[in-house]
Amino acid sequence: LGNGLALTPQMGWNDWNAFGCNVSEALVKQTADIIVSSGMKDAGYQYVNIDDCWMTGSRDGGGNLVPDPAKFPDGISGTAAYVHGKGLKLGIYESAGTATCAGYPGSLNHEQADANSFAAWGVDYLKYDNCNNQGISAQTRYTAMRNALANTGRPIVYSLCNWGQESVWTWGAGVGNSWRTTGDISANYTSMLSIFHSNVSLAQYAGPGGWNDPDMLEVGNGMSFTEDRSELSLWAEMAAPLISGTDLRSATPATLSLYTNKDVVAVDQDSLGKQGTEIASAGGADVLAKPLANGDVAVVLFNENASAQTISTTASAIGISSASSYTLNNLWSHVLTSTTGTISASVPGHGSVMYRVSHGSGSSTGTTHPLIGASSNR
Ligand code: GLA
Repeated sequence: LGNGLALTPQMGWNDWNAFGCNVSEALVKQTADIIVSSGMKDAGYQYVNIDDCWMTGSRDGGGNLVPDPAKFPDGISGTAAYVHGKGLKLGIYESAGTATCAGYPGSLNHEQADANSFAAWGVDYLKYDNCNNQGISAQTRYTAMRNALANTGRPIVYSLCNWGQESVWTWGAGVGNSWRTTGDISANYTSMLSIFHSNVSLAQYAGPGGWNDPDMLEVGNGMSFTEDRSELSLWAEMAAPLISGTDLRSATPATLSLYTNKDVVAVDQDSLGKQGTEIASAGGADVLAKPLANGDVAVVLFNENASAQTISTTASAIGISSASSYTLNNLWSHVLTSTTGTISASVPGHGSVMYRVSHGSGSSTGTTHPLIGASSNR
């Protein structure tokens, strides 16, 4: 969407995966605190997003949505003020139907009134769901809210959540900043794998301002550490929105170390805005390549199977311009190695090895850079 927002995929947190309907102002504020203190804000996570169940069961006499006063004693505006005070932004949820998925008042035929409420409250992001849609075309319903948000004059990231229906990727870029490509994710490897398979083939539709959305991250919610690392590797490689769906207040240091890996985040947030593609897939061994703005290529070697296997590709297969040698920066172990062309690793079951491939024997992003030391001695 040409609203100047989400020129790189949006990053943040949303309560739904971990809390369902149990959202509250206290949870949002505590999470904002943790996003700052854990280093997630420094790593790029910005939006603190409220999902379904934040409002009362009916509109007020003026037809306006009402935040549940028990859950949000300071309203959405008070919650937004707190989040803004932390240097973060606030997101909210509604549905393009007569009711939300959990049965609260929906925005269908109330688009402008509700957009005005969101803007007045200081909301920076809207996730717009698809329940109770009365069979009206998604493009019509989602365009109505796009226009209503634009009329407010407030910059609001617009996240379409119609579960890949009506081939949303073919029209999503003119309507929203991202669009869900699948049904809901759950916190297990089978769900994550199936969503990856659906989303990875849609690369041609993604770009700055409009991203394929394979749903929120389940990292920290019960998959193994190896599987969690695969989800982040694959989502970053696919230039997906990185929206954590876990309880950050109780996240382990290991989980936080995954979310805050700046080299992996940099692949997701690369300014070229290309979604990575699967350049090989056989026997559960996948090779993905994502061209980056500085000419480097991000590669993921993903092992779909339960037992370890070696996965290999080459510099020429990943599309990097030809050179006599290349540096492989392993973005999870931070080990730098050099190759004349072969890119290969033993990958654990359900695991991923992620490399940033660059020219020559130094790395543009590595933690060490031997060439700098050499030249400074001259
Ligand atoms: C739908 C969405 C979910 C979540 C719930 C809330 O299922 O796809 O992401 O927002 O509604 O009810």
